[in-house]
Amino acid sequence: MNLPNMLDAKVRGKSKVQYLENESFVSKEFQGKKYFIRTYGCQMNVHDSEEIVAVVENLGFTGTSVMEEADLVVLNTCAIRENAHDKVFGYLGRLKHLKREKPELLVAIGGCMPQQSSVVDEILKKHPYVDIVFGTHNINELGRMILESKHKQEIQVYSIEGNVYENVLYHRDSKITAWVNIMYGCDKFCTYCIVPFTRGKQRSRKMSQILNEVRDLKSQGYQEITLLGQNVNAYGKDLEEEISFATLLKEVSKIGIPRVRFVTSHPWDFTDEMIDVIAKCDNVMPYIHLPLQSGSSRILKLMGRRYTKSEYLELYRKMKEQIPGVAITTDIIVGFPGETEEDFQDTLDVVKSCEYDGAFTFIFSPREGTPASKMKDDTPSGVKEERLHRLNEMVNSYSNQKNQEYVGKVVSVLIQGVSEKDPNKVYGYTETMKLVNVVAAKDSIGKIIPVLITEAKSFSLDGEMKELVAI
Ligand code: SAH
Ligand code: SF4
Ligand code: F3S
Repeated sequence: MNLPNMLDAKVRGKSKVQYLENESFVSKEFQGKKYFIRTYGCQMNVHDSEEIVAVVENLGFTGTSVMEEADLVVLNTCAIRENAHDKVFGYLGRLKHLKREKPELLVAIGGCMPQQSSVVDEILKKHPYVDIVFGTHNINELGRMILESKHKQEIQVYSIEGNVYENVLYHRDSKITAWVNIMYGCDKFCTYCIVPFTRGKQRSRKMSQILNEVRDLKSQGYQEITLLGQNVNAYGKDLEEEISFATLLKEVSKIGIPRVRFVTSHPWDFTDEMIDVIAKCDNVMPYIHLPLQSGSSRILKLMGRRYTKSEYLELYRKMKEQIPGVAITTDIIVGFPGETEEDFQDTLDVVKSCEYDGAFTFIFSPREGTPASKMKDDTPSGVKEERLHRLNEMVNSYSNQKNQEYVGKVVSVLIQGVSEKDPNKVYGYTETMKLVNVVAAKDSIGKIIPVLITEAKSFSLDGEMKELVAI
C-alpha cells in the first residue's frame, strides 16, 4: 500500500524528470469480462481514460455502457471542486449495493481524488469494498493492480513530482479528433487550485515525441488534434533545449492535420509570438480558452495569477486585433475569500469589455491543503450564489448574441457523428468551437463541410449543408 501525502505533492525541484518507456501489461485473465468506466473532470482526465481503457482491454475486458453488466467499474475522478468529490462518493453508494448483489465485481477509483490523503482515508474507513485505488502517476500499474486485487485490496497512490512516459497506448474514443498531451502537471500553484498537488510538477514532453505522435495521427486520418496541458503556453520552460509553445505549435501545424487546437492557456505566459503563430497558421483554429478567474486585480493577486485586470484586457485586445475571427471563452470564479461587491463589479466589467463567446463560471470551493482554503472568507453563500446568478445572466446574453451573429453565414464544420437530439441530423464544430446540428448525409461524418447556419439556440447552432458555396 502506498498512500498519498499532500506535503510531498507540493515539493518541486528535488527529483529530475525521468523520460521512460511505457510497457504494456498484457494478459488473457479477464477474457469475456466487461468493464464500465465513468470519467469526471477536465480533458486531461478524458484523455487519461483513453489510456485506462487500453490498459483494461489489454487484460481481456470489453466495454459496456451499462454499469450493472460490468465485472469491473472504474471511476476516473476529479478533485477540482467539492461537488465533483460529492458526485463520486454518491456514485460509490450505488456501487456498494451492486457489489452486495455481485461480490466478484471489481471497483477501481483513480484520477485526481485519490491523490488527496483525506479521500484515501475516507475510502479506507467508509468504503472498504473498493478494490483498487490508483492515482494520476501510475495508470501504467493498473493492469497489474487489477490482477492482484483478486487476492487483496490494492492501494497505490504516489505523491511524486512525476515522470514522463512515452509509448503510451491509448484506446481513442474517436477516429476523427484526438487529444495529444504536450505536458503534464502544473507549477503555477494558483492559491485556490488543487491541480499542482494532484498532477505533480510541470513536465513537458520532448518535441520530437509529440511530433511523432501527431504524424502518426495524421497517417491514421485524424482531422483534428488538441494539444493538452494545464498551461500549454508554458510548454518547454522546463526542458533543457530552448523550445517555446509558439515553436511547437508551428511545427505541429506544418504536419498538416486540418485542424489543430490547444487547451488551456494561461494569460501569464501568452507571448506575442504565440498570437502570431495562431494568426498565421491556417490550420491552427481561431479559438482560445483564456481563463480570467477574476476581473479584480486585488483578487487576482490573492489568487496568485500574476496578471492584473489591465494586463488581461491588453492581451485580450491583441488577440482580437491580430487573429481574424477569433472566439475566446473563459473560466471565472466568484466568491473567492474576501471578494467584495466592488471586486465582483470588476469581474462584470471585464465580461462586458470582452463579450466572451462563452464562460464556465464557478463558486469558489475551498480545497484542503491550498492556501486559499485557509483565507478568511466571510461572504455569505447566498451572496455568492446571487453573484453567480448575475454573472451567468451576463455571460449567457453575450454567448447568445455571439451565436446569433452566425445566422445566415456559411461556416466550415467538422462533422463528428449523429446528433444526439435528432437521429436525422449530424453534429460537428465550427472552427471557433461552436456546436452545430446539421441537416446532412451521414457520409459527411469525418469531413469538414460548408454549413449554412439557419438558427441560433442558447448553446448550439442549427444549420444545413451548403453544397456549392465556396468558403
Ligand atoms: N489550468 C487551467 C485551469 C484548470 S481547472 C487554468 O489555469 O486556467 C479549471 C477551472 O476550474 C479553473 O480555471 C477555475 O476557474 C476552476 N477552479 C479551479 N479551482 C477551483 C476552486 N477551488 N473553486 C472553484 N473553481 C475552481
Ligand atoms: Fe490550477 Fe492555476 Fe495550474 Fe490552472 S494554472 S491548473 S488554475 S494552479
Ligand atoms: Fe479535475 Fe484533475 Fe482535471 S482535479 S479538472 S481532473 S486535473
